[in-house]
Order: sequence, then structure tokens, then C-alpha cells
Amino acid sequence: MIGRINHIAIVVPDLAAAAKVYSGTLGATVSESISLPDHGVTTIFVELPNSKIELLHPLGDQSPIANFLKNNPVGGIHHICYEVEDIFAARDHMRAAGARVLGDGEPKTGAHGKPVLFLHPKDFLGTLVELEQA
Ligand code: CO
Repeated sequence: MIGRINHIAIVVPDLAAAAKVYSGTLGATVSESISLPDHGVTTIFVELPNSKIELLHPLGDQSPIANFLKNNPVGGIHHICYEVEDIFAARDHMRAAGARVLGDGEPKTGAHGKPVLFLHPKDFLGTLVELEQA
């Protein structure tokens, strides 16, 4: 069912400092910071040969990651995104397997302009899972 890891998202308290860790200490290629007001985040993409890391920081009052940062003030892994071929087939498969799809279950347009869904962390070993139709 799931395919490649599309990205791993890490919420950070300081984007510039986080970018420096990845570009400096880890020697990776990082993007400029990009504000995504519709998603309530500012993000920096770390490009790796086989995947991406997304460094996320809350943007605006309604940011969906504001509470996460409150609970994890030094930052932490927020979610893992797996690619799927068909988001609706994936949703139906997850539901049939007893997993909870967050929200109303209708795919939303994700940060890359592709349809995404999120799955309940309690059904996936404590990990928030994002599915993205690749
Ligand atoms: Co994501």
C-alpha cells in the first residue's frame, strides 16, 4: 500500500537555527524559508538524495503545530509522509483495517499541492502519518 517516504516533518522553535544544523553540521542542501499561510506553517525544505526533511515553524494564531511546539519546546519529529498511488483507495484501505483517518476523511491539498490525509498516531505506533498521492 504505502510507497516511498516523501518527507519527514520536524517542528522547530527557530527555523534559522534549524537550517544551520542541517546545512552546517549535517552538510545538507536547504531551501529558503517558505511561508504557507493556508497551512499555518513556515517551512524550510532539506533536500536529501532519497527524500526530504521539512523543518516547520508555526505561522499565525491558528497554526496546527502551535500546540506541538508548546508540548515539545525544543522541537521534535511531527509526522512521516508516505506516498500512495491513490489517496481514496488508501483511505478506504486504512478505514477497513480499523485505522482512524483524521478530520472529515476528505483529502486536503497538502504543502506540495497534492492531495493528503492524516492518520491517527495512536493507530500507528505513536507516529502521526501523512499519506500523499504522489
Ligand atoms: Co507533511
